[in-house]
Amino acid sequence: MNDALRHTLQQMPKAELHIHIEGSLEPELIFALARRNNVALAFESVDALRAAYAFTDLQSFLDIYYAGASVLLTEQDFYDMTRAYLLRAQQDQVRHTELFFDPQTHTARGVPMEFVINGIWRALQDAQQEWGMTGALILCFLRHLSEDDAFDTLELALPLRDKFIGVGLDSSELGHPPEKFARVFAKCRQLGLHLVAHAGEEGPPAYITSALDVLKVERIDHGVRCLEDAALTARLAHERIPLTVCPLSNLKLRVVDQLANHNLLQLLDAGLVVTVNSDDPAYFGGYMNDNFIATFEALPLTREHARVLARNSFDAAFLDGATRHKYLAEVDTFFDGQPA
Ligand code: HPA
Ligand code: ZN
Repeated sequence: MNDALRHTLQQMPKAELHIHIEGSLEPELIFALARRNNVALAFESVDALRAAYAFTDLQSFLDIYYAGASVLLTEQDFYDMTRAYLLRAQQDQVRHTELFFDPQTHTARGVPMEFVINGIWRALQDAQQEWGMTGALILCFLRHLSEDDAFDTLELALPLRDKFIGVGLDSSELGHPPEKFARVFAKCRQLGLHLVAHAGEEGPPAYITSALDVLKVERIDHGVRCLEDAALTARLAHERIPLTVCPLSNLKLRVVDQLANHNLLQLLDAGLVVTVNSDDPAYFGGYMNDNFIATFEALPLTREHARVLARNSFDAAFLDGATRHKYLAEVDTFFDGQPA
């Protein structure tokens, strides 16, 4: 790729909408927190941990991801993890970020819900004050656990309702279809929470359809398997349901065998509101700009695609009208003011 396009990808304003904050824990920070908290790790060293990041599918990743998250105990730990991510995102010209967090991973170990939410929240507040970065939290239910467990988790979080804007659904997809969480999502909808769900990463297009029809989600996380169903693809385009696509994640979890075979360009050509995101950047080999650069190197994507992807990231974000308008204007000024 030429230097001008690389520079454009690096410098354009963007939003990140699919990042699991626990997936931003770098091995060095995992070891530092393990020492600070006297938590025993199954790995001898940072290098040994990194060497274990050879995933074959989603589950092989999740096993290590949950082990890594076991070092998080105090509110300060959640603050430090989030602060590190936000600093890194700021370097990539991320202006707005919607962070997924997995409370059940922590409450199951006896960590109070308020440590989790308040630590992440405080880091977002500081980033807004210091750099004007905006952000919000989305509480994810772990789909390998029961719906009753999700209800219990929601109840624990409701005293902190003003600190998260929505709920999502993540963890092991196959065998855990969206329908399993119909009642708890209906409850969240009544509460006025935004709704999203992972669907169509490893799972079939039918999971995307039921996320829309049963859970009534506003965005689909991943969703790359939608192209197997032409009617569903047309519907996603017509209803302008955004897909938060994560190219390096798809590569590392073998959803695609190589980035050159990623369907991101076909998704764009089908008229879908596609966004690019990092998912779990510490585990999948890259943050936002790494995802953009690797994808643009592998596929015949142009500067005009970069502009569409930057605009889509703000169009798909849960922003108020004025803030969305401000960010979209910033994207347009960036592209109009730059030689092509
Ligand atoms: N898919 C499902 N669950 C997850 C992921 C993912 O990519 N990352 C963290 N939890
Ligand atoms: Zn994800």
